[in-house]
Amino acid sequence: MIIIKGLSKAFDTPDGKVYALRNINLQIEAGDIFGIIGFSGAGKSTLIRCLNRLEEPDSGSIQIGDQEITSLDKRQLREARKHIGMIFQHFNLFDSKTVFENIAFPLEVAGLPKYRIKERVEQLLELVELTEKTNAHPSQLSGGQKQRVGIARALANNPAVLLSDEATSALDPKTTYAILELLQNINRKLNLTIVLITHEMDVLRRICNQVAVIEDGEITEMGSVKDLFANPQTDTTRLFVQSDYELQHNNYVI
Ligand SMILES: Nc1ncnc2c1ncn2[C@@H]1O[C@H](COP(=O)(O)OP(=O)(O)OP(=O)(O)O)[C@@H](O)[C@H]1O
Ligand SMILES: [Mg+2]
Repeated sequence: MIIIKGLSKAFDTPDGKVYALRNINLQIEAGDIFGIIGFSGAGKSTLIRCLNRLEEPDSGSIQIGDQEITSLDKRQLREARKHIGMIFQHFNLFDSKTVFENIAFPLEVAGLPKYRIKERVEQLLELVELTEKTNAHPSQLSGGQKQRVGIARALANNPAVLLSDEATSALDPKTTYAILELLQNINRKLNLTIVLITHEMDVLRRICNQVAVIEDGEITEMGSVKDLFANPQTDTTRLFVQSDYELQHNNYVI
């Protein structure tokens, strides 16, 4: 279970303070696939990056499992981060490393012996169906394959939580669905909690159970995905639902 209480974060910029998150309160059940949706600049990435403290919150608390993430010191945080995997829109792979070496990286950092690393990487490659690309470099892979490497790397240390920041936004629809299916399988197989940021309603509809809508740093709506589609409460959500409807019915005016 993830419990976020009173989370706020502002950035100092030359043009003044930008309030990226304002008093966010959120509860995510263990084993859930929880979607966070919002327009560009709403605060989605800032929120997800606060969960593993890639971004330091100004105030509020974050609890993941029985750990208070916001009160960990540097060493404890390094340890805790092993159990919080993250995947990104642009994959963030090391181009100079092979697929094997990319996935092995967090295991090396964790200090595992070579034979254990090999065993684990082979397991992960099987899970994401990339065994035949073991020695390829990222530049030799398709977008979907790169994201599979990203997912395998994120799962290397058996995390309890996977954070996904627009992980399918750079992929075509067919590849997106394949990656979503993989995430869903992993969620079921490993009982992994997934927090998934997206601006695509289609992604929400396909794999998320619960959703929070974020607008200008605030949560404006929260509940089941089903309810959100059936009964949107705010203008922003209605816009999202409407654009999704148009997409579904190929009704785009260009
Ligand atoms: N390092 C930073 N310094 C200054 N401002 C920032 C920084 N990071 C984010 N912001 C600002 O905080 C707000 C929220 O940004 P964030 O990246 O969280 O939005 P987002 O919802 O992820 O958007 P997108 O869908 O475009 O990725 C924006 O106004 C952004 O300009
Ligand atoms: Mg973002």
